Amino acid sequence: MKIIVFLGAPGSGKGTQAKSLADRLGFIHFSTGDMLREAIQRKEPVGVQANQYIVKGELVPDPVMIELIENALSPLNNTATVVLDGFPRTLPQAKALDSSAKTKVSIAVSFSVPQNVLVDRLTGRRICKQCGASYHTVFLPPKQDFICDKCQGPLFQRPDDNQSVVVNRLKVFESQNADLLKHYESTHRLVTVNGDRPVNVVQSDLDRLLG
Ligand code: AP5
Repeated sequence: MKIIVFLGAPGSGKGTQAKSLADRLGFIHFSTGDMLREAIQRKEPVGVQANQYIVKGELVPDPVMIELIENALSPLNNTATVVLDGFPRTLPQAKALDSSAKTKVSIAVSFSVPQNVLVDRLTGRRICKQCGASYHTVFLPPKQDFICDKCQGPLFQRPDDNQSVVVNRLKVFESQNADLLKHYESTHRLVTVNGDRPVNVVQSDLDRLLG
């Protein structure tokens, strides 16, 4: 199995680019944020537990996250190429992946975006309730207000995309990120991509790097 991990602050474009790689190149994409939100919607115990952390912009405890991702990866066969978007977020999570030959990370891509841009991206993000497509009120508005271009579903704002939770999410990210970068840099697996450019430009860089 080839494992690619996307690192980067909330709003740095990990999800946008991971979805695009999955659609265009057939990579398997796991977003731990999406997995938790689905579990919340289905009122599963892991979702109920995770929601207490997500609404405050805190991280869900490592053992819960490690089990979630191990369960997702274990059925896959060795020929799969997988993009993990939002995992790992802590050093113990990174070490858990590397502890097995099957899930050892091949490359870590870190998206670098200035803080003020991140706040604008997150507070303006709108998501389709039906198909999960992501829009932005200014950078990527839907053709019709509050309606998804792709499936005509209603658009909503994630509860953790309000200004005060966003500020805490960014603080939490800063507290963990240096250790993660060091972990991958010291083992020559880290690549940094400038995420503060148009989506298609970032995408071309990733295609060159990973395609
Ligand atoms: P999660 O859903 O993973 O949130 P996040 O990391 O905070 O990431 P986002 O989805 O907000 O940002 P993104 O980088 O994917 O950006 P996107 O492409 O959408 O996690 C939510 C919560 O779950 C966490 O806070 C935590 O509680 C919990 N959790 C999840 N994983 C965990 C773990 N491993 N351990 C512990 N807890 C965990 O883009 C954002 C916006 O910008 C969009 O509107 C998009 O259209 C726009 N945009 C994207 N790229 C560009 C560009 N190049 N130019 C202009 N606009 C752009």
